[in-house]
Amino acid sequence: MTEQIAIYGKGGVGKTTLAANLSAALAEMGKRVLLVGCDLKADAGTLIHGSEQIPTLFDYLHRGEVPHIDDIVVHGYRDIACVEVGDSLAEDDCATKSIGRALELLRKLDLVRHLQSDYVVYDIPGELGCSAIASHLNALALQRTFIVTSGDLMSFYAANSFIRSVARQSGVTSTSLIGNALAGSFEESFVGDFASQVHAQVAGLIPRSLVVRHSELYGKTVIELSPDSTQARLYRRLAQQIITDRGHLLDGMPKPLSVTELRKWAQGWGDRLGELEFGIIQDGAGI
Ligand SMILES: Nc1ncnc2c1ncn2[C@@H]1O[C@H](COP(=O)(O)OP(=O)(O)O)[C@@H](O)[C@H]1O
Ligand SMILES: [Mg+2]
Repeated sequence: MTEQIAIYGKGGVGKTTLAANLSAALAEMGKRVLLVGCDLKADAGTLIHGSEQIPTLFDYLHRGEVPHIDDIVVHGYRDIACVEVGDSLAEDDCATKSIGRALELLRKLDLVRHLQSDYVVYDIPGELGCSAIASHLNALALQRTFIVTSGDLMSFYAANSFIRSVARQSGVTSTSLIGNALAGSFEESFVGDFASQVHAQVAGLIPRSLVVRHSELYGKTVIELSPDSTQARLYRRLAQQIITDRGHLLDGMPKPLSVTELRKWAQGWGDRLGELEFGIIQDGAGI
């Protein structure tokens, strides 16, 4: 049985880095992994296969051709299979529609069965043009979704709307949060508290680390380049959790906050930050 995992979050929050490192950690544990990049940048597998550009599903769709599996699958570290949906905007198409068509082609090619993948990891674009994408993702029969957030307010806003759209998808049995690129315990608490507000589990809290930058500069995952680092250990822990939980996904679905609730919650943290940084208590009164 293949488990399908999707990674959501605001652009720049660290989805692609996480998808690649998670795939590398799962592969290192002997699992067959297919990494599917749905972002227009077609960059999900870069850290895995090292190539700058690979033929994308959209390249074929645009030409009206049906690719052979070998044309679009590029293998990299530990034989991880990478596929990219591609850049539909370059052809002046609607991104949501073309991602949908590409995912449909992926299913038609029966790639998952052909590759006998244990896990499929989808790197979902951060800015989805329209809500129609939800119906395409529905058809993938995703089981597990991770929503990535940093300690930035805007990434909490995005996480909150992803919670809302994932809740509309059928078949998803687990949605949890991952805090990424966190600068210290204040941001860890910030993510932890957001999770409790939306009734979500925290699957991992990953610090901001130069090891990630370092690996990125060499075009590799942390798992491959710095296997003994603390950062690699955190990605492995997440992969292990995915393997252990398999078939027991009972996290329940988080509930999004309304915009008013989100603003109120943010201001509460603003008060705490104010006290810490400026010695200001409550409504801006300095002491
Ligand atoms: N834990 C981390 N620590 C430091 N830098 C990180 C971390 N995670 C991601 N990054 C960096 O942040 C940038 C954006 O990450 P990326 O994975 O491309 O985000 P996304 O796919 O969500 O747009 C990259 O330069 C990446 O190396
Ligand atoms: Mg990305």
